[in-house]
Amino acid sequence: MKVTIIGAGNVGSTCADAIAYKRIASEVVLLDIRENFAEGKALDMMQTSSLLGFNTKIVGSTNDYKKTAGSDVVVVTSGIPRKPGMTREELIGVNAGIVKTVTENVLAHSPNAVIVIVSNPMDTMTYLTFKESGLSKHRVIGMGGALDSARFRTYLSLAVERPSNDIHGMVIGGHGDTTMIPLTRLATYNGIPFENLLDQSTLDKVASDTMVGGKTLTGMLGTSAWYAPGAAVAYLVDSILHDQKRIIPCSVYLEGEYGQADICIGVPVVVGKNGWEKIIDLNLNDSEKELFKKSAAAVRNMNDALNAL
Ligand code: NAI
Ligand code: 2OP
Repeated sequence: MKVTIIGAGNVGSTCADAIAYKRIASEVVLLDIRENFAEGKALDMMQTSSLLGFNTKIVGSTNDYKKTAGSDVVVVTSGIPRKPGMTREELIGVNAGIVKTVTENVLAHSPNAVIVIVSNPMDTMTYLTFKESGLSKHRVIGMGGALDSARFRTYLSLAVERPSNDIHGMVIGGHGDTTMIPLTRLATYNGIPFENLLDQSTLDKVASDTMVGGKTLTGMLGTSAWYAPGAAVAYLVDSILHDQKRIIPCSVYLEGEYGQADICIGVPVVVGKNGWEKIIDLNLNDSEKELFKKSAAAVRNMNDALNAL
């Protein structure tokens, strides 16, 4: 089981670390354009193997795609991250060029891989990858909802003072500060609806903290976050490689589901060895449907901005 991660920066290397530590794959290739950077990260991580007890081989590569050949999953994190005051959307021009070139190179060596897009603006980058690659829609997955849901579960856990592992909650819609939709109505603590546990103003605060979760961290760290993003990618890759069929909100190409078509946006999907297999209909209520419609309109604007470049 081989995973390639393009971009050995903060998110890419944290993801490689989580994949190795959790023994998700037997080989991880980290590729970056910076001379010796991926090799250095890979060697450093390999030197943790006897201490942390894993056997995953971690290989670094300076832009040599031959080393990525035969990957089952390829994760694309290459690009520039957000700086304080920047939106994900401002990254569009630079990252579109990078994502397009990288995907071509990757597919030349791993024609059967499932592609996971992380680079921002992620929904638009996922759409671009789907359109440019000619791949089946099931093999192109944007990662954003797994991270946003992890943040949602963390804020719920802090509000209710209970462990986040026992908490279920999903964030759907676009991966943007104003476009994501934390589904408070459907969130539960061991089956108990949060609406029975927390008052509405606390739930509203949890939702708004979740929505600016990435922005808050960017302000604190001076660049965008990496621990939870890296772990969220590893969680998704695990479900693909081990055919776990977890239901994870991911950005996928819609053809009428959730009332939208010709767009990649976050919806719950079953994730297994062939990529995303099936979209789950959550039976949104009218106000959630309205939020989803607005979110899709914002993502569509971003796609139009890409097309206008
Ligand atoms: P980073 O700057 O630490 O790492 C990016 C790496 O990509 C750098 O090492 C750079 O040398 C490399 N790179 C640039 N062009 C390349 C190319 N053509 N081929 C190979 N490597 C190339 O950035 P970080 O923090 O890892 O973020 C990466 C991307 O992920 C950003 O676009 C960021 O906005 C996005 N992101 C998305 C999240 C999500 O949930 N979808 C969460 C966090 C970050
Ligand atoms: C995050 O949510 C910026 O997409 C990045 O942390």
